[in-house]
Amino acid sequence: MSSKKSKKTTKFTDEHAAVLQATHKPSTAFSKNARIGSMAAYEKLYRESIAKPEVFWAREARELVWRKPFSKTLKWKAPDAQWFIGGKLNVAENCVDRHAAGTRKNKAAIIWEGEPGDKRVITYAQLHREVCKFSNVLLARGVKAKARVLIYMPMIPEAAIAMLACARIGAVHNVVFGGFASEAILDRLEDSGATAIITADGGWRRGKVIALKPAVDEALKKYHKIKHVFVVKRTENDISMQPGRDLWWQDEMETASAKHEAEGFDSEHPLFILYTSGSTGKPKGILHTSGGYLTGTYSTCKYIFDMRDEDIYWCTADVGWITGHSYIVYGPLANGVTQLMYEGAPNEPDFGRFWKMIEEHGVTIFYTAPTAIRAFIKAGDQFPEKHDLTSLRLLGSVGEPINPEAWNWYYEKIGGSRCPIVDTWWQTETGAILISPLPGATPCIPGTATRPFFGIDAAILDEYGNECPPNVDGRLVIRKPWPSMTRTIYGDKARFHKTYFSDYPGIYLAGDGARRDKKGNFWIIGRLDDVLNVSGHRLGTAEIESALVSHPSVAEAAVVARPHDLKGQAIAAFVTLKLGYESSEDLGKELRDHVGHVIGAIAKPEEIHFTPVLPKTRSGKIIRRLLKELVTTGTISGNVTTLEDVGVIELLQKLLKK
Ligand code: WTA
Repeated sequence: MSSKKSKKTTKFTDEHAAVLQATHKPSTAFSKNARIGSMAAYEKLYRESIAKPEVFWAREARELVWRKPFSKTLKWKAPDAQWFIGGKLNVAENCVDRHAAGTRKNKAAIIWEGEPGDKRVITYAQLHREVCKFSNVLLARGVKAKARVLIYMPMIPEAAIAMLACARIGAVHNVVFGGFASEAILDRLEDSGATAIITADGGWRRGKVIALKPAVDEALKKYHKIKHVFVVKRTENDISMQPGRDLWWQDEMETASAKHEAEGFDSEHPLFILYTSGSTGKPKGILHTSGGYLTGTYSTCKYIFDMRDEDIYWCTADVGWITGHSYIVYGPLANGVTQLMYEGAPNEPDFGRFWKMIEEHGVTIFYTAPTAIRAFIKAGDQFPEKHDLTSLRLLGSVGEPINPEAWNWYYEKIGGSRCPIVDTWWQTETGAILISPLPGATPCIPGTATRPFFGIDAAILDEYGNECPPNVDGRLVIRKPWPSMTRTIYGDKARFHKTYFSDYPGIYLAGDGARRDKKGNFWIIGRLDDVLNVSGHRLGTAEIESALVSHPSVAEAAVVARPHDLKGQAIAAFVTLKLGYESSEDLGKELRDHVGHVIGAIAKPEEIHFTPVLPKTRSGKIIRRLLKELVTTGTISGNVTTLEDVGVIELLQKLLKK
């Protein structure tokens, strides 16, 4: 027995387990008003939607405004899907004009709060004016349909306006997360061939100004195809402006006309590219198109968030990620909802910020990530307890599996044991939520994203392509196409085909391990490939390894994830140094900073282990599985038969004990 007295022991009892795994049925009050009010209603519509997906999706698509109706719903020859063929629509018109022209004209589209506390309310009519004006600015500066426009912005309304203006004129936006560094910008500029950039002087984060324009300037030293950089003045920090190329957003808008007639674009017209991590070093430019993507995001908002005119909806994601695209900009606005948008950090000035904002704005639907929930749990119940959260009626979670402890805390402390939690599974590639409870119908069990959305034929397959029996782990696949699925990896159709549709021909491979229980609920286990999920953000091991190896001292690097209380996963890097370099704490810090500089702060390894050798197969492949076991458990017990040199294990184990 240990002589040390532990501070606090919580015995894990059956009672505790029962609470964690309890089933939560939606209340009668919630079900009565919901679009889908019972499991029977879900099952019926689901069966119909799987028997005839085209009928379901065409009905959903027809709720949008089409300039020209589509003549055929789907053309599918794996991996190529075309949805709503012959149809023409304007995505921005669907998100803005149709509300601005009707009874929602003076309804708030975006209620925005800056981190320092400044506030703006933008009605649908005002949003329409802003989007039209910026569309005219882009056109006047030579940005045409299909041109790629890189957006690198803080969370300010102009980010949404910029995206919508691109969509309106048929330009293809590529939003780059504001936390990424200049090299990430450069990679994306080169891969997408962008000709314009929309950015800001900076944004507020944790009480400080984070400058953005300097990173753009740095990237533009090596990329010369940019004709104009539009810069929103937000923080008024000193930045440099290159005459002729760089233009202040505010100056351009001052003289721009607010009249712009939306043109209908083909349903398969490209809408945006968003880069995401894959198993190799080069991020994949996931391409989404117009009609299908909008149908998917519109329909899932309607059924899964059960959005109503009287709702105040808040998704805390950043527009730099797919969640910000689908569930801040396109889905909610297509539904004409009022949403809250927030610029800054959840703990500025303290961990009560979100709860204060929910109380003040009367938020009814709140959508956030498990990593944020875990940080709130750690900060303490005193923060939410100070605020009246009774306006909330529905909660959502996204980005990684939500652990039952976090689920229960969210349910009780934030939702007052009254609000259903929709645990939504989806990906950058899927465009919209594919697996999730429907809040008025599905019994929720902490830890499962439950059942597939309408039209989504999800299954768990073994390595031979057979369906796994209940409760057996396998690979999550989607067997039928759906409208919001990615159409390609920009410029690399072969990689697209190979990554998603080659393991099981014609079937979409999600890259996640999962199992299905006897009731048909899907339990997502995590990624099967070399993709990490740090605080709900996707990062590739290969990207981080290649950043490490780009440092002059590093010969070889292997990156793995280990479980982390707050982040879900933390990054552990094993590094071998070139001859003449010596390991030291300072070098470890330098390497961490170097990764931060190359990719961005979120990719900095939590721990760096210097080692003279890495475990490899006889063919020279690094066996990350062993390193992962080592950082997780401290030992290696798994299969080591493929190892070239078994001695390396003992060495690594010793190294880690130091
Ligand atoms: C993980 C984010 C479990 C999953 C929308 C997926 C989840 C990857 C969930 C996609 C969830 C997302 N439960 N795991 N509810 N939501 N994931 O492209 O591993 O940034 O493959 O899209 O996040 O991450 P991405």
